[in-house]
Amino acid sequence: MANLIDGKAVSAKVKAQVRAEAEELKAKGISIGLAVVIVGDNPASRVYVNNKKKACAEVGFESFEYALPEETTEAELLELVEKLNNDSRVNGILVQLPLPRQINETAVINAIRPEKDVDAFHPENVGHIMIGDYSFLPCTPAGVMELIADTGVDVCGKNSVVIGRSNIVGKPMAMLLLHKNGTVTITHSKTKNLKEICAEADILVAAVGKAKFVTPDMVKEGAVVIDVGMNRNEEGKLCGDVDFEACKDKAGYITPVPGGVGPMTIAMLMKNTLTAAKQQNGAV
Ligand code: GUN
Repeated sequence: MANLIDGKAVSAKVKAQVRAEAEELKAKGISIGLAVVIVGDNPASRVYVNNKKKACAEVGFESFEYALPEETTEAELLELVEKLNNDSRVNGILVQLPLPRQINETAVINAIRPEKDVDAFHPENVGHIMIGDYSFLPCTPAGVMELIADTGVDVCGKNSVVIGRSNIVGKPMAMLLLHKNGTVTITHSKTKNLKEICAEADILVAAVGKAKFVTPDMVKEGAVVIDVGMNRNEEGKLCGDVDFEACKDKAGYITPVPGGVGPMTIAMLMKNTLTAAKQQNGAV
C-alpha cells in the first residue's frame, strides 16, 4: 500500500495558520469577510458552498451567503457582484460555478474586482499566475502543491503529468508545477498515447471528471498520484478519477477521495481571503 496523503491533516495546518493571522488582524480592528454566491440548486454546489461557509467560521471570518434562484438573469447577478465589489465588509467574492445556462460565466468572472477575486479566475490574476508573480493562489492547484510538498518529493526536474486542461485546475496546475521546475506535460481527451505518457509520470495529477479513469497501467511504480476528481459512482458514492483500490499498491503516495484534494481547495481559499483582507487594509 502506498503512503496515503492526508488532505484533512494538511488542510488543518493551513487553516490553523490562517486563523492565527486572522486573530492578529482582529486585534488591530480588522475583520475579514467572504461573500459566497450560489445560483440555482445544483446539489454538488450546495455542498461546496456549505463547506466554504463552515471553513470561514473555523478560521474566524464572516461569511455572507447569497443564494439566488435558478432563473436569475446575468444582469441581476452582475448587479450583485457590483454591490459586493463596493461593500467594504466583503474582502473576497466567490461565485460558485457552474452557473445556469442563461448566465455567461466569463462576464461574471470579469466583473469581480481582481483584488477581491479569491478564486483567482479573473484574467488579470490568471496573468499573474502565468508570470509567476502572484498573491492569489489558484485554490485547487495550490492545494495540490501543498500535498506534494507534504510527501517530501521534490518536483524539480521530475516528469509531472496533468490529465485535464480546464481553466480552474489543469492549466494553472501545470503552471505551478513548472514554477517548481517540473518537466510538465498537459494531457487531455485528444492526447495520443495517454496511457504511455502517464506511465512515465513521477507526479501524476488527475483532473478529468471521470470515475476510475486512471488505471494501474497508467501509474509508474512509486509515483505521487493526486486525484482531483469528484465523481459519483453507480451507488451515488463520492469517488475520484483514479481507481484507488487498483492503483494504491503501485503508487508511492496517493490521495484518497474524499479527504485528499477537496479540503485543501477550501483551505487555500481561506488563505486567499486572508491575503485579500491584508492587501485591502494595507497590512502587507
Ligand atoms: N466549482 C468547482 N470548483 C470551483 C471553485 O474552485 N470555485 C468556484 N467558484 N466554483 C467552483
